[in-house]
Parts: sequence; structure tokens; C-alpha cells
Amino acid sequence: MLYRCAACGYDTPKWLGRCPDCGAWGSLAQGAQSSKRDAVEPLTVPMPLADVDPVGAACRPTGVTELDRVLGSGLVAGSVTLIGGEPGMGKSTLVLQALGTMAEAGARCLLVTAEESPAQVRLRAERLGTLAPDLLVVAETSVPAVCAHVESMRPDVLAIDSIQSVVDPDAPGAAGSVAQVREAAQRIVRLAKELDVATLLVGHVTKDGTLAGPRALEHVVDSVLSFEGDRHHALRMLRALKHRFGATDELGLMEMTHAGLAPLADPSALFLADRRPGGSGSVVTAIMEGNRPLCVEVQALVAPTGAPIPRRVAQSLESSRLSMLVAVCQRRARVGLGDHDVFASVAGGVRIAEPGADLAVALAIASARQDVAVDAETVVLGELGLGGEVRLVPLTPRRLGEAKRLGFRRAVVPLSTPDVAGMTLLRVADLTEALEVALESGSRVHAGV
Ligand code: TYD
Ligand code: MG
Repeated sequence: MLYRCAACGYDTPKWLGRCPDCGAWGSLAQGAQSSKRDAVEPLTVPMPLADVDPVGAACRPTGVTELDRVLGSGLVAGSVTLIGGEPGMGKSTLVLQALGTMAEAGARCLLVTAEESPAQVRLRAERLGTLAPDLLVVAETSVPAVCAHVESMRPDVLAIDSIQSVVDPDAPGAAGSVAQVREAAQRIVRLAKELDVATLLVGHVTKDGTLAGPRALEHVVDSVLSFEGDRHHALRMLRALKHRFGATDELGLMEMTHAGLAPLADPSALFLADRRPGGSGSVVTAIMEGNRPLCVEVQALVAPTGAPIPRRVAQSLESSRLSMLVAVCQRRARVGLGDHDVFASVAGGVRIAEPGADLAVALAIASARQDVAVDAETVVLGELGLGGEVRLVPLTPRRLGEAKRLGFRRAVVPLSTPDVAGMTLLRVADLTEALEVALESGSRVHAGV
């Protein structure tokens, strides 16, 4: 016999006053059976690996291009994908668009709406222009009832909006509690695997950014996608945090329009749209988001500090990377930052997690410190070593190609960079050289204005 916490589902063989997992008081109750009871005769037969059906064969494109980009090619039959995001991000819109497109392509789709009425869903579908006859909707909050619907209808694709608002009466806890969310998800995952239904779950993200029903859910499902953006802006970013059927490095970029989510036609142009050319502390670099090169603006601000220890604040950059780059600037290129605060950020909200932007960040810091602008038509590419040396980054030609397309004519790059037609490459060995070529020509441009 086990004791189970009603709040989080934690099992313990001994009664305790306080749950060691979630910290709730008096929440442990007797009742859970030891898992030995579940031992049964296996229904499965081991088989040679080569005889196993490859899952890729049963992959269904959702028809929403940016969602398919993140998923690799589409939804795998029997897989469960969790789409998490803050309220108002557009999760319901994304799921309805995907289901509508798949239904139009002939898939039997079932949307379980546990938060909105079917009438509300219909209004949204009209707005999106997706009223396919193969898209069925049911307003249901009970997990057993959802399972019964799926068993009788046998859909190809199932979506539940949201996993926090369905309840399993057999599980402990209130709707939306960790135990409930986990139990409900586990039941749906079992059913999806059994009946080979590609399943989408919508999950709300709490204020601190974690998927409610914490990491427990991430282990239960096959893929976790995160839908992010600023509610006051139209830009939406979709990325995979976990993906059992492909890579997790693709970024989906969409725009919320009056008729639903539309793929972003030219992301680089959008990210650079509001740039103020000729300002100090601004440097453009080209990063890779999965298979796609993107040009983004790195910004730095350097100001005398009032604090005993100067601050280094990174936004959309790794803060440990910023500290390292500040140290390299100080020690290898004699940029005086000891009594200055350094702020660095990436405009547009894209996160930079690769070292390919190192040189751009360092140049932005030096440019801000010296109040000298980097030439507005120059793109900067390169990784910085601790010795101040500049190193080549992967896929440099593709990155420079994207910069060229956007009108950049010069590039500060590592020594080993191959030629690019139509672009002047300023090859540098280390940060000191990079500062010389970038800031010297920048100041000339500035003086000439
Ligand atoms: P919604 O999909 O309901 O978000 P979530 O399920 O993540 O809470 O949509 C959120 C917002 O998007 C809502 O404020 C209205 C807006 N919206 C549009 O701008 N255009 C549209 O076509 C739709 C359907 C919604
Ligand atoms: Mg919603």
C-alpha cells in the first residue's frame, strides 16, 4: 500500500505530514496500490529491428508551414505533441488552423474544446476560413468521455484545448492540479499510442515560464513546443523544447494577423526594420536558426557605474557569454570597462545561443564605450576565443548570403572566410584588428554624415 499526495501525485510507502515533492501539508492519503499489481502477461512480441515499420511513413504534414518546419515534416501517427504558451499567444488559433488544414486534406480531425464553447470555436474558424466538414468539435471536460469519443470516432488527428481544463474523476486533486494534468495526459497518451492517433495538447504556461503541471508532462509526451511572443506585437515564435522525431533547433516565425497566423515572409527584414543606422553600440550579425540564416541587430550600452561592482546585463543573450566577452574586451583589446555597466541585447526578441555572434557583441560593446558607430552597411561574423582570436563559424557563406540579400556590402570576418561575390570582406585575426577596421571606418562614415 502506498500513500499518494493529492496535490502532486507523489508516492511514498510511509505516511508523512508534508509532501516532500511539492511541500503541501496533510495532502498524503492512503489508497494507491503498489505498482506490482500491474504486472501482466505481455501483449507484445519482440521482433527484429529491421522488420519494424518506420514511423516516418505515417507522418502527416499539418499544412501550417512554420509548424511543419519545427516538427520536421508533420505529425507522426500515435505521437503526442504539447503546445505550451502564455494565454493570448494564439495556441487555440494555431491548433484550429492546423486541424482545419489537415481536415481539408482529408484527415478525420477531432477538436476537444474544454475552455471555449463550440460556437466560439466556430466563430474563430470562420475568421480563419477553415470550416472543413471533416473537422468535428466536441465540448468536453471529462477525460473518460474524451476517450470514449476517440474510441468511437477513431480520428486521425485529435486536439485537446487545453490539458489543464480536462478532469479525470479517477485521479486525485482539483482540475488543473499537477496530479490531474499528469493523469489526464497519461491516459490520453496511452490512448493515442493504442489507436495511432496523432494528438496535439494545448498547455498553459504559468507566469514563471514553466509549463503548468511541471516537467512531469514533458516526460509523458513525445514533443514539447513552446509558443512565444509579446502579446503587444504580432510576432510569434515557435520552437521545440523536446522532439522525439527530429531536431529541436528549428525556429518557426509567424505573425498574428486578422485572419489567423501567417508565416513571416522576410524575418531578417523585419528584425532590422527599426534599426537606427549610424548609432553607436549597434552591430548587425547573421545567426543560424536551424536551417535558416537570420540577420539580427546586437545592441550594447555602456555607462559609468554607480555600484561597487559594475553590472553586466544580457537580454536574449547568455549572461555567462556576455561576462566572458566583457573580459576579452578588457584584457585583449584594452577596452576600459572596469568602472562601467554593460548592457547587451538582441533587438526583435530572437535569442542568440551560438558563439557566432561573439565578435558582433564585442564590437557593439567597444562601439558603445567609445561612442563610435560601426558602418551601417557592415555585417559582423565570428566566434571569439579567450585569447581574443577570431574564429570561423559554421555555414558562413549562407549567413553572408543572407546579409548580402539585405543590402550589406561589407563584412568583418575571420581570416579563413572564403570569398563572397559582391561583398568586401575585411578579414581579421583578432579583436584588436576587428576594432581597428570596424570602428575606424565607422567613424569616417559618421564624420561624413
Ligand atoms: P488564442 O488562439 O485564443 O490564444 P490562446 O489560445 O493562446 O490563449 O488567440 C489569442 C489572440 O489572438 C486573441 O486576443 C485574438 C487574436 N487573434 C487575432 O489577432 N487574429 C485571429 O485571426 C485570431 C483567431 C485571433
Ligand atoms: Mg486558447
